[in-house]
Amino acid sequence: MAELVTVTIDDRAVQVPKGTGIVETAAAAGVEIPVFCYEPRLGPAVGACRMCLVEVEGMPKLQAGCTLTAQDGMVVRTARTSPLAAEGENATLEFLLVNHPLDCPVCDKGGECPLQDLTFRYGPPVTRMTFSKRTFDKPIPISPLIALDRERCILCYRCTRFSEQVAEDGQLVARNRGALSVIATFQDLPYRAPFSGNVIELCPVGALTSTLYRFQARPWEIQNVPSVCGLCPAGCNISATIREGKVKRILSRNHPQVDQGWICDRGRFTYPALYAADRVRTPLRRVGARRLEPLCWEEAMDELERQCRAAEGKAALVLSGTETVEIAYALSMLVRRGLRSHQALLPDGVGEELDPYRAPLSAIAEAEVVVVAADEPVLDRAPIVDLWIRAARRRGAELVTIGPAGTVGRQPGDWQAVCAELADPGSAVGARLRQAERAALVWSSSGGCHLLAQLAHALSFHERPGCGAYYLPATPNGRAVTEAWAAAGEGSPTSPPSAFSLLLVSGDEALRDPRLPELAERAETVVAIAMFAEEARRLAHLVLPGTSFLEREGTLVNLEGRVQRLRRAVEPPSRAETDWIAELAARLDVDLARSPSLPRASTQEQAPLPPRPAPQPMAALQPASSLQAPPAPELRLVRYRALFSGPLVERVPQLAFQRPQAEIELSPEDADKRAIASGDPVLVRADGKEVELRARVNRRLVAGVARAAEEHVRDLPDLVEVRAR
Ligand code: SF4
Ligand code: FES
Repeated sequence: MAELVTVTIDDRAVQVPKGTGIVETAAAAGVEIPVFCYEPRLGPAVGACRMCLVEVEGMPKLQAGCTLTAQDGMVVRTARTSPLAAEGENATLEFLLVNHPLDCPVCDKGGECPLQDLTFRYGPPVTRMTFSKRTFDKPIPISPLIALDRERCILCYRCTRFSEQVAEDGQLVARNRGALSVIATFQDLPYRAPFSGNVIELCPVGALTSTLYRFQARPWEIQNVPSVCGLCPAGCNISATIREGKVKRILSRNHPQVDQGWICDRGRFTYPALYAADRVRTPLRRVGARRLEPLCWEEAMDELERQCRAAEGKAALVLSGTETVEIAYALSMLVRRGLRSHQALLPDGVGEELDPYRAPLSAIAEAEVVVVAADEPVLDRAPIVDLWIRAARRRGAELVTIGPAGTVGRQPGDWQAVCAELADPGSAVGARLRQAERAALVWSSSGGCHLLAQLAHALSFHERPGCGAYYLPATPNGRAVTEAWAAAGEGSPTSPPSAFSLLLVSGDEALRDPRLPELAERAETVVAIAMFAEEARRLAHLVLPGTSFLEREGTLVNLEGRVQRLRRAVEPPSRAETDWIAELAARLDVDLARSPSLPRASTQEQAPLPPRPAPQPMAALQPASSLQAPPAPELRLVRYRALFSGPLVERVPQLAFQRPQAEIELSPEDADKRAIASGDPVLVRADGKEVELRARVNRRLVAGVARAAEEHVRDLPDLVEVRAR
């Protein structure tokens, strides 16, 4: 327990742990100290803006409150009781406004701007400036997503500190010195980084604004709907800003255990895809080879009922893992109870065998040792986890990454051998994991959830609450979707589906599953639930309008096992899935009453993490021989789904610059052998298929492996040849 000290703030005595910041101490005493640059999530205070000036007994000058910590007997006076502090704050604001344009009526931040609010409360009532203010070219596009209005900047360095100390992308800098200081990107290059949008929210004035939100709404016209991001398994908490029934902006909503108030640019900037030109707004029926024609709901439901009745016992369901618990359950009931068919293709998700070793994501940042087992980059599977790992490293954690591009290089998929080694008390890393009071195991590869649970068990993670095992599945709600399927009937599905005539495919992502064309070929009828017509056109005979997570009410379970409530921020363009599935279920005499075994979201705004259950007995990990590099000239292809890819991202032109480059990573050895240098065009070929990409030599990559974003190597098998073009 930290020592408690007594501090008096504006004549109110308050007890806080020694070392607590004075801004927080004042808040505990019910006193506000206004701040601009102070933001504890960005690291130590920098005392840049001087907005927090206070008088401290025994100190001759006013002090920046944000840089002080609570000491016993300290007596602090804020502007409320100290005329000197009030004068200081007033002068600070007057000084900050010397060159500020005061263009609040046309500024996007107006109405929700700390500078505007604090000026009204603590600033001078009139201006004494009679000269012209400094101007700059405006707005400066620091990327296609973010505009900079330099004259509004108060140089608080929140944005540059985020870039340097949280995202660690190092792209935003303060250029020049003194009065000439300006915020800029490194060498004026576009700010191309996965978390760039957070600086918009951090900026306490309207200097950094979203190009997608600029001039779209005023604060009195909007509602912010609290919800959860449904685009990856982390489930960051968000608020959706709505104006006249349309999503205009996505903001973070700080859940300290999940996201700490940061969200990635995919979560923040893909909402315009809701209004894409090819959005499915009515049911569609295939006519001819590639044409889809609209049909009314009545006809669509009749057609669907007819198809279902004809396919009794011969239907298969493909779930994408983006469904809510409710949608997945309703579809599963329809297929399993209504059509008496038990075939499905289920998404990747966290298995319940990992629950005894779970911990909040925030525990990663507290860990003394973090081991990341990754075939695919953590950033691309669950971006926010990457920020937690960076936070752990900054706090001094030992970070070991194992995999084809790890600090410990391994062939992709070599997890049986890696886990057996880590479970061995003789291994150095294994010993660290056994000894640490706080350790994190992060798994960023498809499959292997059970292996991870075995490893966590062997390391006795269940006996140490500070230790957590995190499996990052490839889909946002895969676990709950699989549970919903199980709750709707007995037994697991035949996988992949074998004998069926009707294939029901849920979600645009599922339509891109590489296994789907072959399945669709075998079906007489393919019914797709899709947001976008282009995704369904190739394969589906009947298309029902799909919805986005922003248009759904329901439940999501994230990779920690946290059950979170999704709120409908806007109405979908047509009937919601739950609505028409209920009608179809009624026609087929299926009772959709919710199964008690399904996860139920808490009513709390910040969903808690359920407690760990007791562990089940686990088989010991068996030693295995390590995988070897494939024989030359072949390379093992590691493909990953890039963060900025997929049906939503592709429909937002402003995100195009974030899309993965058409490149393939090679190890220095393999590049040398083939006389290839970074930037060279290369041919990647196998089985008579060939694609041209640019080479990038990655010093971390092990020999025998080539790595590329899935979208560039979709049709290639796992072993390829690469040669200079
Ligand atoms: Fe602060 Fe905004 Fe200026 Fe960055 S751009 S220094 S966040 S005022
Ligand atoms: Fe204290 Fe900026 S908030 S100096």
